[in-house]
Amino acid sequence: MELIITKDYKEMSQQAAVLVNAHVIVNPKLVLGLATGNTPIGMYKELIRMNKKGMIDFTNVVTFNLDEYLGLGPKDKESYHYFMFQNLFSGINIKRRNINLLNGLTKDPNGECERYEEAIRKADGIDLQILGIGHNGHIGFNEPSDVFPTATHVVALSEDTRQINSKFFKDKRKMPTGALSVGIGTIMKAKEIILLANTKQKAEAITMAIEGPVRPQVPASVLQLHSKATMILTSQAAEGLGRIFKKSKKFSLLAHKTV
Ligand code: PGA
Repeated sequence: MELIITKDYKEMSQQAAVLVNAHVIVNPKLVLGLATGNTPIGMYKELIRMNKKGMIDFTNVVTFNLDEYLGLGPKDKESYHYFMFQNLFSGINIKRRNINLLNGLTKDPNGECERYEEAIRKADGIDLQILGIGHNGHIGFNEPSDVFPTATHVVALSEDTRQINSKFFKDKRKMPTGALSVGIGTIMKAKEIILLANTKQKAEAITMAIEGPVRPQVPASVLQLHSKATMILTSQAAEGLGRIFKKSKKFSLLAHKTV
């Protein structure tokens, strides 16, 4: 796994956007897996800026989002559909038909998961998957459990996640109990993965994911088995990585290590 340690959120976001840009230059038809949450917002802002300056062209880029709340649709401000249009899609020259999102309003959640898997298969899989990480080590909505879920599936959200994410809901009672999420197997089939983390509250999950054993109780630990995974972290999110960085007295502004 590659680790890139940045000094702050801005640098993390720029570094991530630069890598996405490089991928799109190399492959203009990139199939890009996207994440929601606070973490990637800075990267999305930077991608919008680059797009407006003509530095990156999304005309032929295809996207697949990782997850969606069950029961929320495009008009719900807390849905990931709404989030993506607010924070990225409405600011770049992507084609609507190239945007893939899970339908949280589906009457047939299992059928919706199958449809999504099939769409990813038809696109020849994800080329580059962007991930955030939960305080509990979740990636997408793959919550800690006793097994790694493989394909896109219906999820019962953990109490932890519901509590943390309810801050995005004006009316906390609207916080869903379920979601649809791309599975760990589908994520791991991506040709390349970039995980972003920037807060101190993520430090423990990051340390366990990198230094601990691979186990489904820490879903992000599975990335240790991926041949091309990069974590772009702020020094705050990386502060628990004692073993890896114990030789350096303090972080350089931009440390780069292979672990
Ligand atoms: P956050 O969420 O970016 O809002 O911290 C990340 C996640 O829960 O995967």
